[in-house]
Amino acid sequence: MRPMRLGTPLSPTAVKVMLLGAGELGKEVAIELQRLGCEVIAVDRYADAPAMQVAHRSHVIAMTDPQALRAVIEAERPHLVVPEIEAIATDELVAIEAEGLAVVIPTARAAQLTMNREGIRRLAAEELKLPTSPYAFASSEAELARAAREATGFPCFVKPVMSSSGKGQSYVERPEEIAKAWRYALEGGRVEQPRVIVEGRVDFDFEITQLTVRHLIGAETATSFCAPIGHRQVKGDYVESWQPQPMSAAALARSREIAKAVTDALGGRGIFGVELFVRADEVWFSEVSPRPHDTGLVTLVSQYQSEFCLHARAILGLPVDVALREPGASAVIYGGLEARGIAFEGVAEALSVPGADLRLFGKPESYLRRRMGVALARGADSDEARRRARGAAGRVRPVEA
Ligand SMILES: Nc1ncnc2c1ncn2[C@@H]1O[C@H](COP(=O)(O)OP(=O)(O)O)[C@@H](O)[C@H]1O
Ligand SMILES: [Mg+2]
Repeated sequence: MRPMRLGTPLSPTAVKVMLLGAGELGKEVAIELQRLGCEVIAVDRYADAPAMQVAHRSHVIAMTDPQALRAVIEAERPHLVVPEIEAIATDELVAIEAEGLAVVIPTARAAQLTMNREGIRRLAAEELKLPTSPYAFASSEAELARAAREATGFPCFVKPVMSSSGKGQSYVERPEEIAKAWRYALEGGRVEQPRVIVEGRVDFDFEITQLTVRHLIGAETATSFCAPIGHRQVKGDYVESWQPQPMSAAALARSREIAKAVTDALGGRGIFGVELFVRADEVWFSEVSPRPHDTGLVTLVSQYQSEFCLHARAILGLPVDVALREPGASAVIYGGLEARGIAFEGVAEALSVPGADLRLFGKPESYLRRRMGVALARGADSDEARRRARGAAGRVRPVEA
């Protein structure tokens, strides 16, 4: 493998990159690719998605429909196909990669394994023997009740195997709550045949995202690690993150060992968000995104090269720099209302917080719990950055037009 030769967009020398999923993370990847003169094609299931607004072209398709996915790839003939979300017809991506139609980032198999909690959990725990929470899978309420009783005990987490951002996920403290958790998983899962994972609770001190980049040095693939990102989740969705997360040298070394094992197994090039639970010097693998991670939005202020820049460079075969610039934090701005074409009050007040910055994603429609923007802040340490980011986020008020 060699670095790709960059060219001119909309000409025969163009390096064409197709983003499958055009949300706020894809938007930042698109901007980084644009800076290097790539031709960017954004795809999502709704029009005017964030990354579409900064791409050369866009397409609205159901990305879970294999025929529709193949058709758009055959029509555009991108060099690189970059999944930004999990809900994609990944079996079709495997076929497309095998035919040599396009290079899938990091690999089609990585996208396939990580879109299903069962695929990645069995790889990590059973093949790679990495430490994880105790777990079992279930395809009916009765199976779930037995699995919780026998494999994990209480409390436990119940999650649809195909879901993300906490959708359909329950925290179950007592056996009587199993029926409700099963019903909730059915509503939140993405597929017809219901299947869930039940996981015993890991009693961690804190959780981190270990951003891990697989990139080229010369002709060889190397692995580099960003400083650990701490984050706080509410109902399975991230509300704030900060970098660096202070932790022991032993826990950091163990985190990187786990991250290396799992990313080596997934292969390819690009950035991965390895989610880990930490208690003292002990570390458990939770899950991994073979793409930029939402908690990594903080790197827009805390690193010289954000996770989006690192992804763009790594997939093109270019050198990366994972160094931390200064402590930073991010705090999510939710819609808080259901409306189209909302406006934002308080932006100037938010930006007057020292060291603060904002990203407003430009999503055409707001929902109560939809992520519409993020406040970012630098600080002398992660705590100061967190206070500033939260302060800035709190000043932004989404309102109806
Ligand atoms: N087994 C577990 N033990 C403790 N906390 C958990 C466990 N599973 C999930 N969580 C909490 O819920 C959050 C979301 O779970 P996760 O599996 O990452 O779902 P998603 O794919 O929706 O991000 C985690 O970041 C963590 O805070
Ligand atoms: Mg997660």
